[in-house]
Amino acid sequence: MFEKKTIRNVDVRGKRVLVRVDFNVPLAEGAVTDDTRVRAALPTIRHLVDNGARVILLSHLGRPKGERDPEYSLRPVRRVVQRLIGRNVVFIDSTVGPEAEEAVGRMVDGEILMLENVRFSPGEKTNDPEFSKQLAALADIYVNDAFGAAHRAHASTVGVTHYLPAYAGMLLAREVETLTEMLAHPDRPFVAILGGSKVSDKFGVIDRLLECVDTLVIGGGMCFTLLVAKGLDVGKSLVEEEWIEPAKKMLTKATERGVDLMLPVDFVVADAIAEDAETKIVGREEIPADMMGLDIGPTSVELFKGAVTSAKTIFWNGPMGVFELTPFEHGTREVAMAVARNNRAVSVIGGGDSVAAVRKFGLEQRVTFVSTGGGASMKLLEGSELPGLEALLDN
Ligand code: 3PG
Repeated sequence: MFEKKTIRNVDVRGKRVLVRVDFNVPLAEGAVTDDTRVRAALPTIRHLVDNGARVILLSHLGRPKGERDPEYSLRPVRRVVQRLIGRNVVFIDSTVGPEAEEAVGRMVDGEILMLENVRFSPGEKTNDPEFSKQLAALADIYVNDAFGAAHRAHASTVGVTHYLPAYAGMLLAREVETLTEMLAHPDRPFVAILGGSKVSDKFGVIDRLLECVDTLVIGGGMCFTLLVAKGLDVGKSLVEEEWIEPAKKMLTKATERGVDLMLPVDFVVADAIAEDAETKIVGREEIPADMMGLDIGPTSVELFKGAVTSAKTIFWNGPMGVFELTPFEHGTREVAMAVARNNRAVSVIGGGDSVAAVRKFGLEQRVTFVSTGGGASMKLLEGSELPGLEALLDN
């Protein structure tokens, strides 16, 4: 898709290269608790450094309100980049303006400079042309490697491409190519497993997947809206009333397209979402009125594992239950293990909570691809345009 648009095909020696990365990483007490996104950006950074570029790293972190907020400073991330890349990384407190321009002016070939959080400037989210020009003034070339932010039409993902030659970084290219190839040419059977709390968040993805998968497994909180659409009573389980009608259409579409849509047949239920909650296992037609389903039950686990084991292509997004709490982690763990064990299949884990689950169970090295994009991968899979991507292709 990118061919001439990837950074591999550009002579970067001695050039100032502004690299938009997605270093939106979790922090606790000023320390990075998950460095996956930094690791994912290393191939592009290494390539640029090894080829003598002056690398200027630009990212957002969290959702500050367009002004400086120490809670969202990228400064703690500098140490992580430095450790992983094994080189000094200079950090400055500005994103644009004289301090940033002077720091860039002092750079030598192969050096890395990291700018402060781009969302401290109000012009970032409004995609302000003046702010985009200030960003562009720092560099000769722009590279977008922030797949996780490609669904945002901001100055650092879109605006800046109007003022600099723009290319895709290696992570962005790999993400887009892996996800689009999976939909276009999957080895069959193609099994998708979706979970997470809300069907409303994933309706577009489900609709698109129903056009390409052989089996669609749905667990997590979102399955209850579908069970209600099938006429079942689900007690106090999470149901999105306004999505019951769309869920009925989803069930019809699955039947029409010959997709095996698998829903849980039993659940772990409790009266509270708590570590010490009393739980019991019930069939899906026996959920007590005062209890809620918080994990899939053992029979569902076996059914879902069977589907995963026979797959040649697997896409997984969203946990099967409240896996953060021990009494409700079993279903997610078992599905994750089944995905990891099937080494004949191409297995793709799509962003957010399912990545956290794969990490929690120590399985990330055993799947083919873990996407760094949450919202971005969902948008791409549902067939929506990603502004950051379009901006590169139009450049
Ligand atoms: C993400 O974490 O999904 C990306 O970094 C995008 O962050 P945002 O939702 O704050 O734009």
